[in-house]
Amino acid sequence: MKIEIGIERPACFQPAYPEEFDLFSHLELAAAIPQVLFAVTTWKENGKPNVCFHSWSCFHGDRTAFFAVLGNLYQHTHTYVNIKRTRGFAVNFLPVHYYDALIETIRQNELDADEFSAGGFTLENARTISAPIIQESFLTLECSLKSVEDLSGAGITAMVVGQVRHCWIDADLSPESRCGKAGYMLLMPGAQNLSTGEPNPSIIASLTIEKRD
Ligand SMILES: Cc1cc2nc3c(=O)[nH]c(=O)nc-3n(C[C@H](O)[C@H](O)[C@H](O)COP(=O)(O)O)c2cc1C
Repeated sequence: MKIEIGIERPACFQPAYPEEFDLFSHLELAAAIPQVLFAVTTWKENGKPNVCFHSWSCFHGDRTAFFAVLGNLYQHTHTYVNIKRTRGFAVNFLPVHYYDALIETIRQNELDADEFSAGGFTLENARTISAPIIQESFLTLECSLKSVEDLSGAGITAMVVGQVRHCWIDADLSPESRCGKAGYMLLMPGAQNLSTGEPNPSIIASLTIEKRD
């Protein structure tokens, strides 16, 4: 049996917390599509390093260029302001055991906070852009700002596109190991129970190899 969901939120959909449907579309919670989780790092205006835990994204290009698309960055974040000012950002991929450390960078999010210290991360300087990078990452992409677009036009979020200028890859981690607990961390947003409308917690996951192609 398939359930159809339209642009009107079904009356039975209950929020996981009071403001959930002010923040997210019910379609996102119905679809619950997993996306890779990573840390965006930038410099704050006061010189302190900033870390932003991020999920809505995709990565692609053609033979001439490779892009990191932060599909949905809140305009109220330090990261949004920092990227527009410095015209650069780094995307740092960390395994799932860094989840709590990354949450700590959200807890300690004041302008004065050194968010690398908050998360216990080691800071290195990016090679090609003005941004700090996380030494513990198994993959880091240095990106220069290509474009910013407010897709909904509501002034809430923006799609930020960065062109990858340089990347750092941990050669000690085999490509296969990136599909495991030491590799990519994913988020499946709390999937709504489509029959009862009850909310479910978000799931943090890693990858399992099913097949080679
Ligand atoms: C699992 C998880 C995923 C998140 N994904 C995003 C995201 O894709 N875009 C976004 O704007 N905020 C996202 N956030 C919220 C930001 O991490 C949070 O607002 C952070 O404090 C922003 O940091 P900043 O103000 O230092 O830039 C996410 C938070 C969590 C816990």
